[in-house]
Amino acid sequence: MKTHIRKLTLFMASTSLLFIAANNYKDNKGLKDYYKKYFPIGVAVRPADFSSGESNLIINEFNSVTPENAMKMGPIHPREDRYYWRDADTIVNFAIRNKLKVRGHTLCWHAQTPNWLFTDSAGNNVSKEILLQRLESHINTVVSRYKGKIYAWDVVNEAIADGPEYLRKSKWTEITGEEFIEKAFEYAHAADPDAVLFYNDYNTEIPAKRDKIYKLLKGLKEKGIPVHGVGLQAHWSVSTPTRQELEKSIEMFSSLGLQIQFTELDISVYSGRQGGQLIQGQQQQQQKAEFTAEMEQQQLEKYKMVFDVFRKYKKNITGVTFWNVSDKYTWLDGRGRKNYPLLFDQELKPKKAYWEVVKF
Ligand code: XIL
Repeated sequence: MKTHIRKLTLFMASTSLLFIAANNYKDNKGLKDYYKKYFPIGVAVRPADFSSGESNLIINEFNSVTPENAMKMGPIHPREDRYYWRDADTIVNFAIRNKLKVRGHTLCWHAQTPNWLFTDSAGNNVSKEILLQRLESHINTVVSRYKGKIYAWDVVNEAIADGPEYLRKSKWTEITGEEFIEKAFEYAHAADPDAVLFYNDYNTEIPAKRDKIYKLLKGLKEKGIPVHGVGLQAHWSVSTPTRQELEKSIEMFSSLGLQIQFTELDISVYSGRQGGQLIQGQQQQQQKAEFTAEMEQQQLEKYKMVFDVFRKYKKNITGVTFWNVSDKYTWLDGRGRKNYPLLFDQELKPKKAYWEVVKF
């Protein structure tokens, strides 16, 4: 009798599992569908993602894309007289064909920016006037090309310092002081008055840095600079952020009348600096690193918590974008060890964390 009951229970459990799987397949529901009443769900993409299995996953799960690298100054504007549009166009065309929104990333940054911008033919720094002219011409050209196709832009990226200083030291600050920031927003707004303009940064849940970002944004708003939103990159890890700091960030930035987007979400399975990347130069060869059951559990809990907070603040949040498609390729692998920061595994299958994110 007992074995019968056990068999029956097993049978029922397996049929209901089958039913769930079949049902899910039939509904063909993706992240974007679960979050339809909340906010668009985006993903950072490369043209290479469209010619492989990833493209189906992108279309089924997401309704927004951000070019991972293709629109950064270096890749898109390698020389003063030369723009390289192919990769950016490929991404925008893919998005239009598949009815996905596009976030532009990024118009002004200290990294992946070509040297020619800052120097004259003798290799000396150009004047502030020339640098701002070049910035204006760059922003005007790129934003105008995609006017009406890109609904939001990360205008200035990572201008605040991690250390005790206020602004990050860069060629931009060296030549223009603080001015490049407001000018970048003005140029972008002039080129496309309908685009939603973001200031984007990381470590936005660390109080000292958050205060500085707040100060910057408050100043811009008071001056009437056209900044409409703050992008919180969300390169997090199994140990960061806490619910309390995350909620505080959302509340602080919202109080400035800015919309909030989580623009580059991933949850590193290692704790530590910048999403758990190894510090540059520390280790160059790829370490064999397993995705352990403990990592899986910790990551799943962090994903569950952050999406719970996102849903709670759905009025303030206008987008959540993952930084890369699946654990098969992620920028966090780059400096020495394999990472597993996303919701899809290396076979592009949803991980346990995925089911936590859509369970509400
Ligand atoms: C990263 C890309 O993912 C890498 O491929 C590239 O080598 C470096 O930049 N913050 C940002 C993104 O705003 O543009 C960065 O993207 C990740 C950190």
